[in-house]
Parts: sequence; structure tokens; C-alpha cells
Amino acid sequence: MLKGKKIVLGITGSIAAYKSCLIIRLLKKAGAEVQVVITPAGKEFITPITLSALSQNPVISDFFAQRDGTWHSHVALGLWADAMLIAPATACTIGKMAHGIADNMLLTTYLSMKAPVFIAPAMDLDMMAHPATEDNLRLLRERGVGVIEAQSGFLASTLEGKGRMEEPENIVQQLSDYFARKEGDLSGKKILITAGPTYEKLDPVRFIGNYSSGKMGYALAEECASRGAQVVLVSGPTALATKSALIERISVESAQEMHDASIREFPGCQAAILCAAVADFTPQNTAEEKIKREGNALHLDLRPTPDIAATLGQMKREGQVMAGFALETCNEAAHAREKLERKKLDFIVLNSLRDEGAGFRTDTNKVTMIDGKGEEALPLMSKQETAMHIVDKLAGLL
Ligand code: PMT
Repeated sequence: MLKGKKIVLGITGSIAAYKSCLIIRLLKKAGAEVQVVITPAGKEFITPITLSALSQNPVISDFFAQRDGTWHSHVALGLWADAMLIAPATACTIGKMAHGIADNMLLTTYLSMKAPVFIAPAMDLDMMAHPATEDNLRLLRERGVGVIEAQSGFLASTLEGKGRMEEPENIVQQLSDYFARKEGDLSGKKILITAGPTYEKLDPVRFIGNYSSGKMGYALAEECASRGAQVVLVSGPTALATKSALIERISVESAQEMHDASIREFPGCQAAILCAAVADFTPQNTAEEKIKREGNALHLDLRPTPDIAATLGQMKREGQVMAGFALETCNEAAHAREKLERKKLDFIVLNSLRDEGAGFRTDTNKVTMIDGKGEEALPLMSKQETAMHIVDKLAGLL
């Protein structure tokens, strides 16, 4: 979503200025054009040479670049940009922004800016907690400035974390989310995605599970979010984290919990992608204490779990689109077609454990998308690329 976007990156005088290098790298990698504007104090922390080399653009810091009467136009920059990001933004710059004080190139650019403005505050704890800073941030928020504050992770929940600049990856992600929401082809759509395995509890220390890592489902969630959709990700236990703020994760453990969360969320969604590897059977009873090793054998009584896809298929309204997955080991296409019909899916994504690099845990997948009209076999590719193709098909049906 950042491809071709023109970003003015404002840098102010904070120790976090070194992280601006990574912000530039990430923006450039995502295909954005970057124009750095730095304050005089910012230059005390990082050199314009580094910044211009990374951004592949001369850095702007003064109104007059040379003593020949030519000057940089903050008005032109304000018209050129698709967004302005000030990272790091010091308490001083935030205060000046809030009160319209334009005593350097960065601040005049801010006042002339026609595009949306985002700031990533960076200062120490006491400065951040001072009522003056809080008032200034409130004023900026009221004027529509996006304030990107450090939130996730251990540090943010401790005193040392407050005021720390958000990590570059998350700052760039939030900028990308903004454009996705505004321009993505799935903007305004809400999509339910199930991902990962389910754990069916035998006793307090054991469960019946499977090898799903969640990678395929999480790739689908990020792909939908990168195109502007609001995603409800109902996830079984995985080690993965989500990146986009457009993804709301509901963590569940058992098939029953995944079922309950999915049927609660589906009516508010335009589409569902059922990628989870859901256990088909669960223990009839869960032992309250750890099952002891006794005798020569242990027999487990299992009962079927609810079929989430089939239940949602029954609930499906006119206009809602549903995609499922089929993980097979033999007679793949026939089994997948049977599931497509029985679960009332619009299409099914077949992956076979007979294909190397496909299915559980790998970073790649090899799938065939099957619907009522025919089949489309995709080559082995990353789960991100596979997700792009699946979401393309889904978007075409919405
Ligand atoms: O998580 P990864 O390690 O990246 O691996 C990805 C994957 C292999 C898990 C994924 O690509 C995949 O194939 N997911 C579906 C696995 C599966 O359980 O397939 P199935 O053929 O048993 O189920 C068919 C469909 O019904 C699936 O959409 C499944 O989510 C759904 N189902 C199954 C059982 C059940 N009780 N409820 C369901 O909703």
C-alpha cells in the first residue's frame, strides 16, 4: 500500500533519530518515495549525508540551501506529499506544532501540509507525562494528527517504556494501514479468518493437537488487512504475532471455542476464510487430574467436534462469501470437491501433504483453488504469495 506514495519524513532532535534510518529503509523497501526534512537539533543527532544516501534524495533542513537566492518551498512539499510522518517528534516540536510556531523548515512544512500528518513522540518519561505535553498531544489529536505511541511489548507496560518511540516496523505498518483503509480494494469489508491448530484437552497437562503453525492463516489475515479489510482472526494456539492494527485476534484453544467465536463473528462479516486445522474429535471427558500411567494400554473415548465450516455454510446469507481449505493425503481433488459442496463453500483451497513444501509448518505452500466452475493450480510459492492469490479470488467474489 506504500508503493509509489510520497512521504515527507520529519526528523527532530532526539536520540531516537538514529531509528529514522530504519524507517527510511522500510519505506523505500515498500516502494515509497521519501523526502527528509530535519530540524537544526535533529542534525546534532544524525547527519544529513546518511539520510540522503538512504532516502536517495537531498535532505532539506534550511529555507535557503545555497547563498544564491534559491530556496526550498515548504508549500510545494505540502502539496507534493501523500503523508507527513514526524519520527522522532520531540516535546519541543510537538509543542510548536500545537501552537503554530513555525521557526524552522520542518514546522513551516507541517503548517503548509495538505496531506495527513503522523507523529511518533520520543522523549523521556517525565516530559511525556507533563500536563503541557499531554495538552499539546490532545490538541494535535483533535486536529486529526495521527499520534503513533509505543504500545506493544514488555517495555511499554513499564515506566521506562513510556515516551519511548514506537519501533520503526510498527510506525511504517501504521502508515501502511492508513493507506490500506483509505484505498485498499477490501476497504470497508470485514473478514473472518480461522487459523492455527486446536488443542483438545485430555487432562491438565496433555492435549490432542496437530502440526498447524498458523503461518498460512496469518498470511491471509495480513494480506486482507494490507488491502484495507478489517480482519477478525480466530486463532488456535500459535507462536505468531500479528502486524497490522486492522487485525483483531481472538485467541481460542479448542474446536468448540473456535466454533463459538466464529459463529458469533460471522454475521457481522462479508466473508470468511477457514484455514484452521480443526480437530475432528475431542475427548468425551477431560480428566481433572493428570492421567496416571497404569496397565498396558489407555483407551480414549472421543466424540466429534462441531464442524465450523459446515455450520457457517448453513448460516451464510446472500452476498456473504466463504472459502475453505482441504488438507488431503490421497484422492485429493475428489475429497476437496466433496467438502466444497457439503460445507457450502464458494471455493476451496486444496493442499496435499504429498507435495513437498506444502501444508503444515513450511513457509511455502502449493495449492489448487477449486470452485463450481473448475480448478486453478498454483505453483509452489511463499505462503504470503499464496495468500495474495487466494485473497484476489475472494475479492473478485465480493
Ligand atoms: O498453519 P500452517 O502450518 O501454515 O499450515 C496450513 C494448513 C495446512 C493448516 C492449511 O493450509 C490448511 O490446509 N488448513 C485446513 C486444514 C484442515 O483441517 O483441513 P480439513 O480438510 O480437515 O478441513 C476442511 C475445512 O473444514 C477447512 O476449511 C477446515 O478449517 C474446516 N473445518 C474442519 C473441521 C472442523 N471441525 N471444522 C472446520 O471448520
